[in-house]
Amino acid sequence: MKPLSIGIILGSTRQGRVSPQVGNWVKEMADRRGDAIYEIVDIADFQLPFFGEGTGQEPGLIAWSKKLSNLDGFVFIVQEYNHSITGALKNALDSARDEWNNKAAGIVSYGSTGGARAAEHLRGILGELLVADVRAHPTFSIFTDFENIQTFKPAELHVDKINSMLDQLIGWSGALKTLRS
Ligand SMILES: Cc1cc2nc3c(=O)[nH]c(=O)nc-3n(C[C@H](O)[C@H](O)[C@H](O)COP(=O)(O)O)c2cc1C
Repeated sequence: MKPLSIGIILGSTRQGRVSPQVGNWVKEMADRRGDAIYEIVDIADFQLPFFGEGTGQEPGLIAWSKKLSNLDGFVFIVQEYNHSITGALKNALDSARDEWNNKAAGIVSYGSTGGARAAEHLRGILGELLVADVRAHPTFSIFTDFENIQTFKPAELHVDKINSMLDQLIGWSGALKTLRS
């Protein structure tokens, strides 16, 4: 049986963003498990137009649709911007529809309160997109899990939480794959 493909989606595109550090760390933890193929999916690479403003034929938009179609599940790396998700992530979510449906997701968030408010906003959006979001939710503090709010230095306790999230994500991604086939 083909292994599950899980995309670790970087939610921010800001210059100087810390999300690649967080995403790479999560990928490192995930790769140790050997239970799926994990890959970083960077929204910035796709240069998505604002939803509805382009022709719908932009190469990045077509590549985004293709990328999501080939994934069985997602880990969203979510940073809190004004108590919600970034505009870039919302636009990326809006820029596909069927490609999200009947798949599972885990959320990893960070911010001054662990990015909890952004993560809860994301859960509402995922419900509409028919994405099943798992309960285990690793949260990082920009004050204690980063050095100078810049360099990611996660506390050891987060490793267990990441694995709990991935346990749930892999279970649901496998179950939902049978629904799509
Ligand atoms: C426009 C903007 C708004 C922000 N609003 C919040 C906020 O409401 N709550 C919070 O905890 N952090 C907030 N932050 C801090 C970010 O969570 C922090 O800068 C984080 O590093 C952003 O992720 P990134 O570096 O991957 O872009 C905000 C940052 C920016 C740039």
